[in-house]
Amino acid sequence: MKGIVFTEFLDLVEEKFGLEMVDKIITSSNLKSEGIYTSVGTYEFSEMLQLLTKLSENTNIAIDNLLQVYAEHFFSVIKRSYSGILQMYSDPIEMLASIENHIHVEVRKIYPDAELPTFQVLEKTPTKLVLIYKSSRAMHAFGLGLMNKTFEHFNTASTIEFEKLNDAATEVKFIVNKI
Ligand code: HEM
Repeated sequence: MKGIVFTEFLDLVEEKFGLEMVDKIITSSNLKSEGIYTSVGTYEFSEMLQLLTKLSENTNIAIDNLLQVYAEHFFSVIKRSYSGILQMYSDPIEMLASIENHIHVEVRKIYPDAELPTFQVLEKTPTKLVLIYKSSRAMHAFGLGLMNKTFEHFNTASTIEFEKLNDAATEVKFIVNKI
């Protein structure tokens, strides 16, 4: 997992819960990196899972809720650092339908070792999109947060439902409607 995901995560933890919490989740985890991340570095996903688990234990907030809030923050990082990609879209359905064939393709050009999910388009109309998310990292809640912010970015209202296709939630169906 790319360092930018860690540095932005720890920044948000500090903003919401304070520096003591950052220190607490780092020191109580077993991290090869010792909790020192640079935005361009690459670190094991298991480190993010440990940090999320410790944060969840200390705040009593479910990991999926933490991931969704984190994704909403990450969207502002995308706006700041990858505005060129966002500017190519004027419609949220078009943008979400293009994660697989365009957006994450561009991300991979920037970070060849990025660990990205796949999003298969099952159905697409001007107002509806059905996607299948697949990733061994089971971060669909991160996807949900980014989807919410995508609609907000285009000042468009939406309903986003999802259905886990397996217990591990490594495969999740998203049903997205523009309203
Ligand atoms: C992961 C970039 C849009 C869903 C990532 C990562 C980056 C990234 C850098 C981390 C990869 C790693 O750590 O190795 C971007 C950029 C976008 C964008 C620059 C827009 C310009 C989206 C959108 C979604 C999405 C709209 C909506 C669903 C995800 C998910 C992951 C991810 C779920 C977590 C990894 C996983 O589930 O395996 N993206 N992304 N991304 N992205 Fe995107």
